[in-house]
Amino acid sequence: MAKLSFLSMGVILFLCCCSVIAGMAPADPGYSKYKDPSQPVHARIRDLMRRMTLQEKIGQMTQVDSSVVTPEILKNYSIGSVLSGGGVSPFPRAKARDWMDMVNRFQNSSLSSRLGIPIIYGIDAVHGHNNVYQATIFPHNVGLGATRDPDLVKRIGAATALEVRATGINYAFAPCIAACRDPRWGRCYESYSEDPSIVKAMTSIIPGLQGEIPAGGRKGVPYLGGKDKVLACAKHYVGDGGTTRGINENNTVTDWHGLLSIHMPGYYKAIIEGVSTIMVSYSSWNGMKMHANRFLVTDFLKNTLKFRGFVISDWKGIDKITTPPGANYTYSVQMGISAGIDMVMVPFNHTVFIDALTQLVNDNVIPMSRIDDAVERILRVKFMMGLFENPLGDQTYLSQLGSQDHRDLAREAVRKSLVLLKNGQNADPPVLPLAKNASKILVAGSHANNLGYQCGGWTITWQGGSGNNLTSGTTILGAISKAVDLETEVVFSENPDADFVKSHNFSYAIVVVGELPYAETAGDSKNLTLADRGEDIISKVCSSVKCVVVVVSGRPVTIEPLVANMDALVAAWLPGSEGEGVADVLFGDYGFTGKSPMTWFKTVDQLPMNVGDPHYDPLFPLGFGLATEPTGGQ
Ligand code: GLC
Repeated sequence: MAKLSFLSMGVILFLCCCSVIAGMAPADPGYSKYKDPSQPVHARIRDLMRRMTLQEKIGQMTQVDSSVVTPEILKNYSIGSVLSGGGVSPFPRAKARDWMDMVNRFQNSSLSSRLGIPIIYGIDAVHGHNNVYQATIFPHNVGLGATRDPDLVKRIGAATALEVRATGINYAFAPCIAACRDPRWGRCYESYSEDPSIVKAMTSIIPGLQGEIPAGGRKGVPYLGGKDKVLACAKHYVGDGGTTRGINENNTVTDWHGLLSIHMPGYYKAIIEGVSTIMVSYSSWNGMKMHANRFLVTDFLKNTLKFRGFVISDWKGIDKITTPPGANYTYSVQMGISAGIDMVMVPFNHTVFIDALTQLVNDNVIPMSRIDDAVERILRVKFMMGLFENPLGDQTYLSQLGSQDHRDLAREAVRKSLVLLKNGQNADPPVLPLAKNASKILVAGSHANNLGYQCGGWTITWQGGSGNNLTSGTTILGAISKAVDLETEVVFSENPDADFVKSHNFSYAIVVVGELPYAETAGDSKNLTLADRGEDIISKVCSSVKCVVVVVSGRPVTIEPLVANMDALVAAWLPGSEGEGVADVLFGDYGFTGKSPMTWFKTVDQLPMNVGDPHYDPLFPLGFGLATEPTGGQ
C-alpha cells in the first residue's frame, strides 16, 4: 500500500480539525447548528438566517390573528407570531386546557414548516390574563400606580405570567407605560400615572413577567428566565398618553425635552430590565406618525438606547400611517418597515403584507439589511427564551389560572390601591373605618353589585361588560355582606329614592358609582361624568343618611359639586375581580394607604392640568390620599 506522505497525512488531519472546530459539531448529516441549544445564540441566529428564504424571513416578521390563521398558513409561510386580540377566545368560557390545546395545535403546524421555527403567541394580559374566563383580574394600572408599591407590581407580573402560561401562551402585550397627561384619554386607566417617575417605578412588572436578569447578567438585552415566565411588551412607544385633549391615537405636541422627560423614562428602565419587545404607538409626535418615525424607532430606540429586542406594530398600525387607513398599503409597509418596525401585527390579510414587503425588497426600495435586522431581532428573542427547546404549552401550569394565591394577591393590590379623598365633615370625627356591627346599612349605586363594572375594559371582551356572570370574582356588595357581622342587616338598592332612604333607620350608607367599562377610543370623554345617574344617587342618599361614596372609574371624574354632601369619598379606580379588598379597608381590617396617581380636577375646563403646571388648582393633587390605621375591623 503506497505510503501516505507525511504531508498528505498532515493535510487530512488539518481538514478534520477544521471541520470539527468550524462546526464544533458531530458528523451527523442531520445536524443543524440552529437547533443545538449548546451553541451560542448569535451562532444559532447566523446558521438559521443563512438557511432562510426571503419569504421565510418576511414570514417571521408577520403576526396574524388567531381568528383567521390556519395550520396551512403557519406551515407554508413560516409565520413568526399569532395573537388573540382583545376579547378573542377559542370559544366562550374556554378553559385553560382548551386554550393550551389551541395554542399547541398552531405551534405544531409551525414546527412542521421547512425550518420548524416555532411561533410566539401574544395576548393582551394587561391586568391579569383578562381574555380568559375565571382568570384573576387585577386592578388596572391606574390603581397599581396608587399603591406606589413596585414590589407588589412585580409579584402581580409573576402571577400574571403563570396564568398566561396556564393557557400555553408565552407573550403578553404588557405593560402599558404611558404617562396619562389628560384624563379625557380613553386609555388613561392603562397608565400607572401622569407622573413619569411612578411609571418608571412600575416597570417592575417586567421582571415579574419575564424574570429578573441574574446578578452579573447583562442588562439591556432581552431576557426571559424560565418556562413560568412570558415575554413582555412595553407600549405604546412613545407619547401615547400625551395627545391633544386626550384624543386617542392623536397628536402629542411637545418639544424634545418634554418627550424625553415625560414620556420616555419608562422605556429607559424597561430596556435596562430586559424587556423583549416594544410596541409602537398609533399616535403622532408633532405631526409625525410614530409608526413611520425612523428617528425615534431606529436612530433613538435602537441605536441610541441600544434596544436589542424587537419592535412590533400595533393592530393595523401601519395601515393607519395613511389617512384613511390603508389608502396606500404598499407605502404604509415601506414607511413602517423603513422606520424600524420588525414585526407587523397585520393581523388579517397576511398575504397582502407579505407580498407588499416582498415586492419592496425585490425592487430594492427596502434593503435586505433591514429585513435581516428585523429577523435577527425576532430570532434573538426566540432563541433567548428557549422557544426551540420548549415550544409547547406545559400542562403543569394549568392549575395556576385563577388560583387562590393569585386572588389573594389581587385582593392585597385592591386594598393598597384605594385612595381616601375625604373622611368626615370638617371637624366631625372620621367616618372611616366603618363599624361592622351596625344594625342596618344601605348599599346603593350602579357599581355595588356589578363585577363587570368593577373590572372595566379589557375584561373577557375588548370593551369589558356588565353583570356578575362575566367571570368569577366578588362584587363590592358581596364583599360588604361578608365583612359585616351576621346580625347586621344589609339592604341593597341600586337607585333608591330619598323617601326610601329616609324611611329606614340606616346606620350609614355605602354608595358605589362610577364609569361604565370602555377601552381605547370608546373611552375618550369630554365631560368625565358619572354613569347611570350616579350624581342623583349620591344626592338622594347622602342628603338623608351618613354616606361613604366609592367611585369605580378608570380616572378622575367630575365629582367636585357633590363632595360637600359626602361624609367620605374613596377612589377605587378599576379594582378587578377581588372586591373584598374594598371591604378590607372600608371596615378597618387594613388602613388606607393609597396615593392618587393622577391630578383630580375640579372641572374639565381646567384640563389638561398636571402637577408642576403654573396654574395648578386641583380638587385633589397628585399624591393626595388620607390614611387610616387598621382597627382589626372592630
Ligand atoms: C390594540 C391596542 C394595543 C393592543 C393591540 C392588540 O389596538 O392598541 O394596546 O396590544 O391592539 O390587541
